[in-house]
Amino acid sequence: MAGSSNLPHKTSLPEGVRVGTVMKIRGVVPDNAGRFHINLLCSDEEGAEAALHFNPRLDQSVVVFNTKEQGAWGKEERGQGFPFQRGQPFELLLIATGEGFKTVVGDKEYYHFRYRVPAARVRVLEVGGDLRLESVKIF
Ligand code: GAL
Repeated sequence: MAGSSNLPHKTSLPEGVRVGTVMKIRGVVPDNAGRFHINLLCSDEEGAEAALHFNPRLDQSVVVFNTKEQGAWGKEERGQGFPFQRGQPFELLLIATGEGFKTVVGDKEYYHFRYRVPAARVRVLEVGGDLRLESVKIF
């Protein structure tokens, strides 16, 4: 594992996420990273549903987006291009819009994932896997 020992990192969002909520995650992708993820979970419990699973896979050069409902992964969506690099820092924004979660990596809009699970149900932002997490900020 190339992740840090302070992972998974959980930020509680007791009031959920509403249109205009911006979540900013800064970190560094380790040289030997395989995959990491950012999940927007509907509870703090084991097997929680995920309104968003954002999963950069350095081993495949793809970012997978999905939901998890009633213990089952939904249909995967994939962003175009791959904006992460081993050994490089990144800044990621997850922005709740009227339609979905818009993702911005660095200064480029990346992919807009349409809601399947309402943003209002989100309670936890979880970061885990192969990364060095520097900060999580919610605006
Ligand atoms: C699976 C993988 C999970 C998750 C899921 C998303 O293949 O094992 O960790 O990324 O895909 O669809």
